[in-house]
Amino acid sequence: IHNIVFANSVNGSICVAQEIADLIKSKQVKNELCILGLATGSSPIKVYEELVRMHNEEGLSFKNVVTFNLDEYYPMDKSSVHSYYYFMHQHLFNHIDIDPENINIPSGTISTEELHQYCIDYDLKIKEYGGLDFQLLGIGRTGHIGFNEPGSHYNSGTRSITLDHLTRVDAATSFLGIDKVPKKAITMGIGTVKKAKRIILLAWGHNKASIVKKTIEGDITPDVPASYLQEHNNVTFILNDEASQELT
Ligand code: F6R
Repeated sequence: IHNIVFANSVNGSICVAQEIADLIKSKQVKNELCILGLATGSSPIKVYEELVRMHNEEGLSFKNVVTFNLDEYYPMDKSSVHSYYYFMHQHLFNHIDIDPENINIPSGTISTEELHQYCIDYDLKIKEYGGLDFQLLGIGRTGHIGFNEPGSHYNSGTRSITLDHLTRVDAATSFLGIDKVPKKAITMGIGTVKKAKRIILLAWGHNKASIVKKTIEGDITPDVPASYLQEHNNVTFILNDEASQELT
């Protein structure tokens, strides 16, 4: 794992957006699709803001972009303000020229009977596109990436999981109470994420410092699912000062 520490999250986010834009453009000149794995939550918001700015002011086009989001709460309606579907449209998709057919977000309304096959098909679809060219990640205080909570297998695929209590505590403020936070989610697996050709993980703020240290400097263990990233050959952690403070 390679780390780059920025003085603040704005500078770090601009740098990440630039890498994504360069990748999209390098695929455009070759007439190829660019397959992006995307994250939600507070960490990537400024990256999306910068991509939208590049679209508006610099003509960056997303016509050749196909996206796969990491996760969605389950059950969860698309129209809910808490859905990751809503988040992605609000922060990115409504403001760029991506073809709606190229947007993939796990469905929070798939029936329990169909769920298992649905998850297998999600991974298959990524594979059919030739895999993810780039995966953007945040990290939870449990060490989750996507919603791969502690205990996740290094080779797991897309599946439904039970959210860790700490993850639900962290989501409680925005849901106005922990009782309103769904107990489950659908998430891409560790195996799905690790097959991406390039991975960037974003972590900002003091409250991520201790899990960032365990992830980068600790053992590779299912207790810290993000530690599996140590086995990937092209992953960069983009941190601000606060998030890097416990690194030796
Ligand atoms: C979101 C996701 C999660 C978040 C993580 C950090 O799609 O997969 O792993 O990246 O929970 O969330 P924030 O960025 O809100 O601190």
